[in-house]
Amino acid sequence: MPSENDPLLSSEGSPQTGASNDKTSRRSSRAREIGLFIWALLATAAVIVLAVWVQHSQQTDRGNRDRDNNNGAPKRNLVFMVSDGMGPASLSLTRSFRQHVDGLPINDTLVLDQHFWGSSRTRSSSSLVTDSAAGATAFSCGKKSYNGAISVTPDYQPCGSVLEAAKRAGYMTGLTVTTDITDATPACFASHVLFRALEDDIALQEVGDGVLGRTVDLMLGGGRCHFLPNTTEGSCRMDDIDVAKMAQDKYNWTYADSRSAFDKLESGNKVNFPFMGLFAGADIPFELDRRNMNDVYPSLSEMTEVALRSLELATADSDMGFFLMIEGSRIDHAGHINDPATQVHEVIEYDRAFKAVLDFIERSDTETVLVATSDHETGGLATALQEPGHLPVYGWYPKALAQATASCEHLAIKLQEHVLATAMSKDKLKHWIEDEIIVKGLGITDSSDEELDVLAADPAGALTVLSAMISLRAHVGWSTHGHTAVDVNVYSSGGPGTEAIRGNIENTDVGAFLREYLDVDVEAITVELKEKMDLGSMDVESMAYDYFM
Ligand SMILES: *[C@@H]1O[C@H](CO)[C@@H](O)[C@H](O)[C@H]1NC(C)=O
Ligand SMILES: *[C@@H]1O[C@H](CO)[C@@H](O)[C@H](O)[C@H]1NC(C)=O
Ligand SMILES: *[C@@H]1O[C@H](CO)[C@@H](O)[C@H](O)[C@H]1NC(C)=O
Ligand SMILES: [Zn+2]
Repeated sequence: MPSENDPLLSSEGSPQTGASNDKTSRRSSRAREIGLFIWALLATAAVIVLAVWVQHSQQTDRGNRDRDNNNGAPKRNLVFMVSDGMGPASLSLTRSFRQHVDGLPINDTLVLDQHFWGSSRTRSSSSLVTDSAAGATAFSCGKKSYNGAISVTPDYQPCGSVLEAAKRAGYMTGLTVTTDITDATPACFASHVLFRALEDDIALQEVGDGVLGRTVDLMLGGGRCHFLPNTTEGSCRMDDIDVAKMAQDKYNWTYADSRSAFDKLESGNKVNFPFMGLFAGADIPFELDRRNMNDVYPSLSEMTEVALRSLELATADSDMGFFLMIEGSRIDHAGHINDPATQVHEVIEYDRAFKAVLDFIERSDTETVLVATSDHETGGLATALQEPGHLPVYGWYPKALAQATASCEHLAIKLQEHVLATAMSKDKLKHWIEDEIIVKGLGITDSSDEELDVLAADPAGALTVLSAMISLRAHVGWSTHGHTAVDVNVYSSGGPGTEAIRGNIENTDVGAFLREYLDVDVEAITVELKEKMDLGSMDVESMAYDYFM
């Protein structure tokens, strides 16, 4: 039963009605009204005074900080994390998946959920739907640019990146990813090219062979093929430049290309700077597959721990801390493929890396801020699906994802290799597909004859069919194999200045925060780049149509 204090039952505009129904109160009601009026007046005045004071003190704080920076600023570290292609639905999917497999209560959340900060709008200068290059340029330069732009503006001029400015100011710098280190997101922090596909050039700039010299101290990830000459097996360069050798001979990099070399870093205690660890020819395998190849590839959280510890040690005797960018690169790839089982494992691993940074902040004596966001959403993921010809069903089925033991990418390659290696009759092939790919791989025991027919008839198209099969059984929907324009989440540890990126912001506001927190002069880098670099121009628009990662 509603109490009489229920505001819905009170008559509007008479504050005492809700407070008491004592009849004697009417006599004093006039006095009360006057009292309330004076109280309200004083309260309003107090609020105004407080607001002015807060604004003033914030300004002076900022002023003090600027002044400090000219003569011994407090040392600080900044960790910026990017979950490429992770939209809000990826969090809902992963959270309820984990609750299901680990038998957790409905209020169990990801570490990310506990540090939700706001959301970011993501459009680029050329499209409402951005790509990762324009997305990362918004972070690195703090400027909107066209899809495909690697830290250049729409007028084809280079723009300085926060990492380059940080290096110039005396910070140590690092990039840690699970895809090619020359891919769009890391590339935007340490190179400038007109189009993201120019990865041969990006590799050179990243090791220091550009107009600014070397600006990165630590690179961990994949994409080794871009650093090997075209005369070598495993190269994907168009030219015969041995970038790995040049990096070591000319720019003093310590180079590692194996899990055993990674293990010798002893969790970051034994890293010689500058250090470049390229642990895969191209992408590091999806976490769902990688965990079965743990002796070949390190995970994102392991690389994160090495990066944090080594940069901490390297800056121990310095007045300046470090800037580290960490990317969960392949959440995006799982989205492009529309493979939900693979995506939840990518997000869980990203959540682990996020936790590793929080743990670092907890134990570090140096002020450290963590900000994490996505460049865009990928796939148009929805945690429900209406099957054609059926009524809507309110639910999705995490169990269907829990039974998968491999990614659709891994299974499609396995199928294609099998077809190439053996000549089987169609019937035999269908049985093999059902046993090895569908039951053992996807954990699906109710595949239809039509599904097996399609897979056997066109193994080249297996990736799409396999991901559709598991999505259907999980009742997970996708609207595209590309990106979408939905706002993405922002997460943070909190700390100095982070209130500036609360609420719904623009992706360039994240870029502005990064440079402001580090208090570095990105504009000076832009001026220098414009002086020294001539990028020419190219018909970027026609290229952009073919490129949709
Ligand atoms: C979750 O719910 C349980 C039981 O309802 C409660 O004991 C627990 O404190 C809750 N946990 C959180 C993190 O809210
Ligand atoms: C390798 O690169 C050189 C130039 O650096 C080029 O002349 C040659 O054609 C390339 N070879 C192949 C196989 O691509
Ligand atoms: C490389 O290391 C050597 C020896 O420590 C040093 O003399 C040289 O300046 C370094 N070169 C670069 C490009 O840092
Ligand atoms: Zn993408």
